[in-house]
Amino acid sequence: PVPVVIDCDPGHDDALAILLAAGDPGVELLAVTTVAGNQTLEKTTLNALRVCTVAGITGVPVAAGCAAPLVEPLRVAQDVHGVSGLDGPRFPEPSLAAEPEHAVDLLRRILAGHPEPVTLVPTAPLTNIALLLTRYPELAGRIREIVLMGGSTDRGNRTPAAEFNIHTDPEAADIVFRSGVPVTMCGLNVTHQALATPEVVARFEALDTGLGRICAELLGFFAGTYRQLWGFPAPPVHDPVAVARVIDPGLVTCVDAHVAVELHGRHTRGATVVDLHGTLGRPANARVAVGLRADLFWDRMLAAVAALGGS
Ligand code: BDR
Ligand code: CA
Repeated sequence: PVPVVIDCDPGHDDALAILLAAGDPGVELLAVTTVAGNQTLEKTTLNALRVCTVAGITGVPVAAGCAAPLVEPLRVAQDVHGVSGLDGPRFPEPSLAAEPEHAVDLLRRILAGHPEPVTLVPTAPLTNIALLLTRYPELAGRIREIVLMGGSTDRGNRTPAAEFNIHTDPEAADIVFRSGVPVTMCGLNVTHQALATPEVVARFEALDTGLGRICAELLGFFAGTYRQLWGFPAPPVHDPVAVARVIDPGLVTCVDAHVAVELHGRHTRGATVVDLHGTLGRPANARVAVGLRADLFWDRMLAAVAALGGS
C-alpha cells in the first residue's frame, strides 16, 4: 500500500476521504492533519477525531495545523457544511485526542522517518503544506507526490472563477504549485462527476452498519445544501476523488499541464489557470485530472466503508 497523510478540514467530503484512505487496502493512512477551512481549526480537528472514533480508526495520529490562511483572514464554508462543519449525524464524544504537536511538525517527523517517500493528500486549503515546504525545504524529496483536491480547469464554486480550497489560501496554493514537488490536481471539473445520487446513498444505508448510516446522513445534509445553493441534483463528493487517484490512478485520468494560481485578479483571485493546450509554452508543473470512472469510484468508496465495519 502507498503510505499517505491526509491534510483536511472536515467537512462532509473530507470525512469520506478519511474513510476511503482508512478502509481501502491500496493505501496506508499514516496520519490525519487538520487545517482551518470549511470551519475553524478547532471544529475541523474535532470533526476529524469524530470521524476516526465512529469508524474505529485507531493508531492513526491526528494533529491540528494552521488556524488561518497565510495572508487573508479565514472565511469558513458554513453555508455548505453547517455550524459544526459536519452537520447532519449526531456524533458521540470522540474517544481519541489530537496529538500535542503541530501538524507541520508531525508531517516533518513522518517524512523524515518513514522508510519510503510519502504521498500527501491535501483536501483543504494548502496552508499546512505551504508552511511545511517553506519551513523544511530539505524534506521536499521525501514527498513522493502531492495529490490534492482543489482548483478547476473551468469554473469555480467560491467565486465564478475560484474553487474554495484554492480561494481560501491562494498564496499557499501558489507555493505548492511552484515547489517542484510532483503535484496532481483533482479539481471541480472531475469532482463534479462524483455525485452521491439517491442510489449511492441507498447503498450506504444497505450496508446496515452504524458507519454506513452516518455516511448516508452526512450525504443527506450535503445534498440539501448543494440543492439550495447551486441547484445540484445530488451533491458532489470532492475530496475522496484525490484519495481514489492514489489508490488506483486508472480511476482518475490526468494530463500534464502548467497550472498558475491567480493571486491578483480583481475578479479572479484564487483561480487555477490551467494551460491544457500548452499555449503558454511553459513546462508542465502538474498532472491535472480530466476524467473520473465514477461507478468504480463509488464501488471502492462503499467497499472501504464496509471494510471499516462498525456495529
Ligand atoms: C472543497 O471545498 C470544501 O468545502 C470541500 O470540503 C472540498 O474540499 C470543494 O471545493
Ligand atoms: Ca475539504
